[in-house]
Amino acid sequence: MLPLAQSLPVPRDLELPLPLPEWTLAVMLVLSFLLHILFVNLTVGSSILTMIYEFLGWRRNELKFDLLAHRITKTITVNKSAAVVLGIGPLLCINLLYTIQFYTANTLTGHAWVLIVPMVIAAFLLAYLHKYSWDRWSRGGWKIAHLGVGFMSMLLFLLIPFIFLSNVNLMLFPEKWAEVRGFFSSLMVGNVFPRYFHFLCASLAISGLFFAGWFGRKSFPLAKLAGFTHPELRRVGYKIAFRVTAAQFIFGPLLLLTLPKAGLSTPLYTVVLAGAGVGLVVLLMLRREIAAPDESIGRAYVAICVTFTVIVLAMGTGRHLYRETALALHKDLVRQRTVEYAAHLADFNEKLASGQIVMPVTGERVFQNCASCHARDKVLVGPSLIEIAAIYKGNPEGIVRWATAPGKKRAGSQQMPSFAILGPEKLQMVAKYMLEAGAKDSPAKP
Ligand code: HEC
Repeated sequence: MLPLAQSLPVPRDLELPLPLPEWTLAVMLVLSFLLHILFVNLTVGSSILTMIYEFLGWRRNELKFDLLAHRITKTITVNKSAAVVLGIGPLLCINLLYTIQFYTANTLTGHAWVLIVPMVIAAFLLAYLHKYSWDRWSRGGWKIAHLGVGFMSMLLFLLIPFIFLSNVNLMLFPEKWAEVRGFFSSLMVGNVFPRYFHFLCASLAISGLFFAGWFGRKSFPLAKLAGFTHPELRRVGYKIAFRVTAAQFIFGPLLLLTLPKAGLSTPLYTVVLAGAGVGLVVLLMLRREIAAPDESIGRAYVAICVTFTVIVLAMGTGRHLYRETALALHKDLVRQRTVEYAAHLADFNEKLASGQIVMPVTGERVFQNCASCHARDKVLVGPSLIEIAAIYKGNPEGIVRWATAPGKKRAGSQQMPSFAILGPEKLQMVAKYMLEAGAKDSPAKP
């Protein structure tokens, strides 16, 4: 028997070429994915920050935190919409480039994969409810309900990417597919958890940077955020970004070390280490900004964002390189299978054409023409075989005559189409089959 990994690949039996060259699709995949994940990061990170500040405001009874949390919420629904819309591009690309792997991972992730749809809808509605009920639900028991709604929406925003992640992770390891049954067992494959923490930190870092730029800019109306100054807000955003980026120096190596060996390669290490090097530069830039006096804080903001983009591009490329290497063997096997399959098919068709293989015609096979309307023991469109066998007992010729030129017998029943095209020989076979099959189950039979 073949080892599992080799017995799994199925051939690409559709002879349809990709609509674009493979490399174009790969570039589109990386870029459109990064754009999508940027807004996912902002949604996830901001919903965590909102809940932290809302909770702080409530526990300490400090209005300024509550106001800040409310302001952050207003950005979530916008970012969330962008994330969903921008998610279509990468899904289409991944479907074309990794059809078999992606399809298999989807089916194996099972219910959780399908549940994403209602979960996205629920997260959306809860996020809106959280945003619009802010002032009305600000007192006593209502405040707790409000915190509850925000918390639920945050949990969903945390769960949805987790399912996506386990899914795209699973598609990288064809040798594990045979063992996976559903979402929970898919979590045991590869290194879902380190990947997820890495993602969470990235989400908070990007949200921190966004925070620093959005609330820290001079034009942001401070009347809406009483109790804060612009430099203060900028510093808070920078601090968030600094801390979680520093934490990536723990989660990043942890992720790299726990990755299954299948996808590791020198280009991957090079890209990821270069990205980490740029990460150190960002940390230094952030530290200088945090320490800068109020008058000059924010000067390096654009430079920080640009440098950060370089890291994201490096990590996105690394992600793609890992996938390509991890799936290289599997893709090769699929290609090989496709060639074998095409050869088999050509051979088979040739033998069939030259009469070397004869497909035996049986009554049962001819009955495929009738099966959509006739069943053994129940009325579908036409009568059951039991009824037909009772009418035509010992008279297959009668069935042949009927099927060649069907009459109109039963009131309220459809007109049966003629099957003269099958010819008397095949009709004779199917008639005999019908009589046998009908008689077998017939209650009249002793
Ligand atoms: C599109 C649906 C449909 C298909 C396909 C179909 N039938 Fe029928 N068949 C009917 C209907 C409807 C009746 C009942 C007609 C009536 O009573 O007026 C019927 C009735 C019959 C009867 C009973 C005639 C009688 O005397 O009561 C026989 C025998 C029969 N079909 C044979 C066949 C055979 C053989 C095939 C396949 C080669 C076939 N049918 C395919 C719809 C279909």
